[in-house]
Amino acid sequence: MNIAVIGTGYVGLVTGACFSEFGVQVTCVDADAEKIEGLVRGNIPIYEPGLEELVTRNAQSGRLAFSTDTGEAVQSALVIFIAVGTPALEDGGTDLRFIEAVARDIGRNLSEYKVVVTKSTVPAGTAEAVRGWIEEELEAAGKGGQPFSVASNPEFLREGAAIGDFMRPDRVVIGVDPSDEQARAILKDLYRPLYLNETPFVITDIPTAELSKYAANAFLATKISFINELSILCETIGGDVQAVARVMGLDRRIGSKFLHAGPGFGGSCFPKDTASVAHFARESGTAFEIVEAAMRVNQRQRMVEKIAAAFSGDLEGRTIAVLGLAFKPETDDIRDAPAIAIIRGLRARGAEVRCFDPVAMPAAEAVLSDVTFAKDAYAACEGADALVLVTEWNEFRALDLVRVRGLLREPILIDLRNVYNADVVASAGLRYRSVGRQ
Ligand SMILES: NC(=O)c1ccc[n+]([C@@H]2O[C@H](COP(=O)([O-])OP(=O)(O)OC[C@H]3O[C@@H](n4cnc5c(N)ncnc54)[C@H](O)[C@@H]3O)[C@@H](O)[C@H]2O)c1
Repeated sequence: MNIAVIGTGYVGLVTGACFSEFGVQVTCVDADAEKIEGLVRGNIPIYEPGLEELVTRNAQSGRLAFSTDTGEAVQSALVIFIAVGTPALEDGGTDLRFIEAVARDIGRNLSEYKVVVTKSTVPAGTAEAVRGWIEEELEAAGKGGQPFSVASNPEFLREGAAIGDFMRPDRVVIGVDPSDEQARAILKDLYRPLYLNETPFVITDIPTAELSKYAANAFLATKISFINELSILCETIGGDVQAVARVMGLDRRIGSKFLHAGPGFGGSCFPKDTASVAHFARESGTAFEIVEAAMRVNQRQRMVEKIAAAFSGDLEGRTIAVLGLAFKPETDDIRDAPAIAIIRGLRARGAEVRCFDPVAMPAAEAVLSDVTFAKDAYAACEGADALVLVTEWNEFRALDLVRVRGLLREPILIDLRNVYNADVVASAGLRYRSVGRQ
């Protein structure tokens, strides 16, 4: 089968590479010519473990191609995935500009039956809008009535573990019109390698599929805000949030994942997806109050205060070492990363910042102009007044704390991920602050 993936970002490139690994003929398309030229030369534009090897192997085998030409890719594909960005608008709504542009491009190039699948995270009703945009272009070209299907196949992969998540997902969600046997059969066939793997498939109607992605992300974000708010309670009245989270997590009805107190949720999905679902709930005349609350808790930006508190609230003239810039380990993605907001908050309060991240520094350099980028974690600590751990990369989990102590001007470690043991830190001669633990 030939497929096209339009939008070759974190989701599109992983989707394209994984389908080609299944033996499917894939063309990944992007409007960014530089990105495509790089991919043709073998340069992977993002950091994602295992991706380079997968892309190289499948490109060399001729199953994975890259192009800027949507028309050609559409014409030769039976299934077309739309995997472009769906950023947030000012009011929290979803910017569907890129989806519309791709849908219209598809419509202009459609001359035989295709299945057009939205993989991007989009509000319920978007696949119908995609159908409308394609139909408008067909009509304009005098090709009205040309049959095609639309479908929804939301993506649940996590950056940093994307290939494993795509190859061994918890579930695959396919939304098709209940009467559309053809699209259902084609998509089931495309995903057959996972069917054989006994991956759970949820085949449902299109709005349910579209909404399920927001439901999952909003729930996970709410879990994070829940534990973060609990951490405030622990700091106020006593108790260790990590121990409380363990007690909760051992209850199989709750589960231990996403119960880690920290600087709040970030990244390219949770902030915009919570805002989007809350927005379209409001627009529809109802409200998603629990998600609104989760967003409010997340916006508190308590972490700059926590860092400032180590200096009696005054950060003027202080130098703070910040470890970790990506929104989570094993990715170079800094979109809505807590570290970026924290660094801006520190700078706004007069602090100098020396930072380090194993892979996200090039991306961070593009958005932070007034900080020092160090060559490693220890170089970041040199002459700083405190060390702040923001993203829990494995290499930050076992720092030589005695060495850190020797490099810092003031012996302060502020651990926003609760990675360290307070006694171990104290025995290295450092004062320790963490989240929700006294
Ligand atoms: N990143 C994740 O972890 C993740 C996980 C699940 C779902 N999603 C969803 O998947 C979608 C894509 O996210 P992403 O992180 O891969 O975005 P991204 O920004 O990394 O990639 C989007 C790509 O689309 C390209 N593009 C934009 N307009 C185009 C056009 N008209 N034609 C061709 N290419 C075009 C851009 O150049 C870019 O390379 C979003 O809706 C996101 O919410 C993301």
